[in-house]
Amino acid sequence: MRIKVFTLFPDMLRPMLAQSILGRAISAGLLQVELIDIRDYTLDKHRNTDDYPFGGGAGMVMSAQPIVDAFADNLPDPFTGRRIYLSPRGRTLTQRVVEELAREEELVLLCGHYEGVDQRALDAVIDEELSIGDYVLTGGELGALVVIDAVARLVPGVLGSDESSEDESFTTGLLEYPQYTRPADFRGAQVPPVLLGGNHADIVAWRREQSLELTLKRRPELLEAAPLTDADRDVLARLERAGEVSARLDDLGLAHERLELRLADQWPKQWLNAFVPEESRKAARKQCVSGRRHVGYLWQAFSMGFVPGYLEGDAAREAWREKSPEVCLLYLPEDRLLYAVRGDVVPEALEGLGPFALADTDLTHTFMQTNRAGVGPYFCERPR
Ligand SMILES: C[S@@+](CC[C@H](N)C(=O)[O-])C[C@H]1O[C@@H](n2cnc3c(N)ncnc32)[C@H](O)[C@@H]1O
Repeated sequence: MRIKVFTLFPDMLRPMLAQSILGRAISAGLLQVELIDIRDYTLDKHRNTDDYPFGGGAGMVMSAQPIVDAFADNLPDPFTGRRIYLSPRGRTLTQRVVEELAREEELVLLCGHYEGVDQRALDAVIDEELSIGDYVLTGGELGALVVIDAVARLVPGVLGSDESSEDESFTTGLLEYPQYTRPADFRGAQVPPVLLGGNHADIVAWRREQSLELTLKRRPELLEAAPLTDADRDVLARLERAGEVSARLDDLGLAHERLELRLADQWPKQWLNAFVPEESRKAARKQCVSGRRHVGYLWQAFSMGFVPGYLEGDAAREAWREKSPEVCLLYLPEDRLLYAVRGDVVPEALEGLGPFALADTDLTHTFMQTNRAGVGPYFCERPR
């Protein structure tokens, strides 16, 4: 890929082009970047390249002559690449535009300065105006570097095998999932366990879910154009419902934390496995309706008597208070959502959420450790 940059300040670009991935790409000949100093082409005896704007107004305007002559001297005629003027008035640069530019044989970037460039120069030598965002810079040099950097990443060979461009934000149509590196425990902050488990399918699913969630939160408009699978749509529907549930829990004044969607899918099964003996589990699994397995697991565990009590109303509230869990799990089978809820949970207050199960995590933990029947989670409302 060949790139020519026309600028009054070539020294602004040099250091960036000499470092790191761009520096290596240029040294390896994968990228050729030529900086052309517009001032070298001025015919003004004082080497001026700008003048006052006709019609008045603040600032100076870059004159047409040095620009047009610099282009004529450095570009073949006819020219087959794309000639771009960096400008806040231009089309906004996105990853799609970057992909489009990376397919060009040659790019020419004109950097403006001061109040901009005489329109006649733009009419004579520019194919397109490109903006790097809705804000105003002092000059086009930073914009040119942004274009060069983003395009270079797509030139084959520029990124090493461990610096792939395939999985990035925007390339997939979504924002990228969170990344972690060693150590696994940084001053008490842990890496999500799924990334340490070595199960590739689980990792892919977790990352996809995180990407969908971040995109929904921060850039929901990207979802309209992103290629989504049915599974993605299911995740998004659940995340939207999770937002409603969180708002309701906020209204109730309950501190809560939504646990990962994948964990919510697995929880009923883990729960069944922890509480139901193997022989009964086989029977239970058979009866679980496919596609609604999570509900089936819970229901089977409950109806087979492995759940110690089914309590409603005052009795449930009393039992709950008596055990006064520090943290409990709230599971909404219809939405397959799982929350860690802190505080004084009054089961009736949660009824507006639809069918739910509450489990005291401390007791679950005790049961798993002791394998002793009679202690364990109970349902405050029978899951359907
Ligand atoms: C101060 S700006 C001129 C702004 C111009 N008077 C306007 O209002 O559109 C000087 C130069 O910075 C560059 N520039 C400023 N903001 C930019 C942006 N968002 N994207 C790309 N280039 C930009 C352009 O090359 C522009 O000619």
